[in-house]
Amino acid sequence: MCGIVGYIGEKQAAPILLDGLSKLEYRGYDSAGIAVYDGEQIHLTKSKGRLKVLGELTHDGETMPGTLGIGHTRWATHGEPSDANAHPHMNRDKSIAVVHNGIIENYLKLKKRLIDKGYEFMSDTDTEVVAHLLDRYYDGNPLAAIIKVMHRMEGSYALGIVFKDHPDQLFAVRKDSPLIVGHTQGGNIIASDVPAVLKYTRDVYFMENEEVVCIRRDSLEFYNVDEEQIEKEPVHIDWDVDAAEKGGYEHFMLKEMYEQPKAITDTISPRIKGRDIVIEELGMTDEEIRQIGKIMIVACGSAYHAGVTGKYVLEGMAKIPVEVDLASEFRYRDPLLDEKTLVIIISQSGETADSLAALRESKERGAKVLGIVNVIGSSIAREADNVMYTWAGPEIAVATTKAYSCQLIALYLLAMKFAAARGTVTEKEMDAYIDDLKRIPDQVEMLLNNKNRIQKFANRYLAAIDVFFIGRGVDYAISLEGSLKLKEISYIHSEAYAAGELKHGTISLIEDGTLVVAVLTQEKLYKKMLSNMVEVRTRGAFVLAVTNEGNDEVERAADYVIYVPRTNSYFANSLAIVPLQLFGYYIAVGKGCDVDKPRNLAKSVTVE
Ligand code: F6R
Repeated sequence: MCGIVGYIGEKQAAPILLDGLSKLEYRGYDSAGIAVYDGEQIHLTKSKGRLKVLGELTHDGETMPGTLGIGHTRWATHGEPSDANAHPHMNRDKSIAVVHNGIIENYLKLKKRLIDKGYEFMSDTDTEVVAHLLDRYYDGNPLAAIIKVMHRMEGSYALGIVFKDHPDQLFAVRKDSPLIVGHTQGGNIIASDVPAVLKYTRDVYFMENEEVVCIRRDSLEFYNVDEEQIEKEPVHIDWDVDAAEKGGYEHFMLKEMYEQPKAITDTISPRIKGRDIVIEELGMTDEEIRQIGKIMIVACGSAYHAGVTGKYVLEGMAKIPVEVDLASEFRYRDPLLDEKTLVIIISQSGETADSLAALRESKERGAKVLGIVNVIGSSIAREADNVMYTWAGPEIAVATTKAYSCQLIALYLLAMKFAAARGTVTEKEMDAYIDDLKRIPDQVEMLLNNKNRIQKFANRYLAAIDVFFIGRGVDYAISLEGSLKLKEISYIHSEAYAAGELKHGTISLIEDGTLVVAVLTQEKLYKKMLSNMVEVRTRGAFVLAVTNEGNDEVERAADYVIYVPRTNSYFANSLAIVPLQLFGYYIAVGKGCDVDKPRNLAKSVTVE
């Protein structure tokens, strides 16, 4: 996920590009760049770091005169955050400049062919392929060249393109990555999202897949892939600027919950090839996988909770002993590791101090370390022996939702890969797991669309003082995360318990009206869970149950039931978490809390 902007008009482009990028920083912020055409040359400034650095380098755009330009704020996917990998990218004689949001999936194949034809690459990005391909196909007609390149690319892209030969035109195209065009008096602007253009216009054109736009200072022409001109109608946007940055959602947290189907799809799809799980970045042969003696999952907070689920799934599917540890405990407890231990460090930010220290400790003790990380080029990603990225995109809300969901998916994929290598599941079972995995994005979407029912229920519990979450097996793991979601953003005290453990002390806290959230998705543990629910209910608890569709008998032991679609027992957490996220969110909203920035918390915890 990155942000792109482009401008052509009567005004100076650079300040408009920088301003537009500042509204898109939520889409990525590890590097930024702009290219501005002054009528003689396309000038380029780009830099690693936040947009602020680019602003300083260009004196807020003053050092880059010109009325046509493109800009980019990056969320690294191919190649670490660096000056060289920052966009825009250019062809060899610097006559074509490109900014890109998306992923060119076949870029390695294209890159190899271009290298064979003598092209030299200055970056590790997939985007540079586009600049060189345009160079190869351009023969004076930019539109024809762009369409030829579109036919060669697989994957997703929104592109902004400037040709030196065409000082009066800015080109843009999209496929599966967002792009809008804003029309203003005296100029036109393109952007990945509405907030970047709102200052200039409220009339925007939403580009559809495989549409190209040729933009002049005073006109717009839209084309399809057959080079035929098409008509489009503008849409009037009446959001306020603040809401627009959140894509119309009230909070980043809600927006990020709604991004889960896409984030999960992005995390799964590059790793399923036919009926095989392929995790190239794992850097382990099947023989090495068979040699693993023990796995230690180490993480903090929600990432730790993902690890607790991972233990159940990895042990169950791949039959490898798994320990899960909080990084702050692991680093000081003299852990027993050897070269047969695989340590998995899970981290959204890749910068959590305790997780990073645990990584270093593990390497020193001779273990192999795999990072499951969201932020490309972060410290944990760089220092782990191998890194498997979750493709959640930037997460802004302090309380994690989509990154956590992608961590679960990464762990399922690992478990499936390990199980296949170790022969612990049959081909038929693997096929069923793959089918279940592919269904998760749609099932999550369906649960999100059911939010009103959860909101209504949440509104009844705004005054709650204590809430307990209970579950068994992976449902215990999800209870941990559900409880954290609620307490961290709503400030209501809540605790998660393995359901069988409650009667060893905690049940004394249950009194009339105490809310107990019982998660029961595990077929083989239903009966046990039903007994635990009855135990608390007879002591006055109000029981909210989250269970699989069709488990109507749960209604006898619960006061309110939320049903989730069926999947296999290992993947159930990916569905059960959605109503729990929504529940925490709506309670916090109802109480008027600062949902995206809860008190005392920070997104990246870089202190011990
Ligand atoms: C809770 C939350 C935190 C993080 C924890 C680890 O919603 O986001 O508990 O999970 O601070 O952070 P990362 O994953 O960046 O290492």
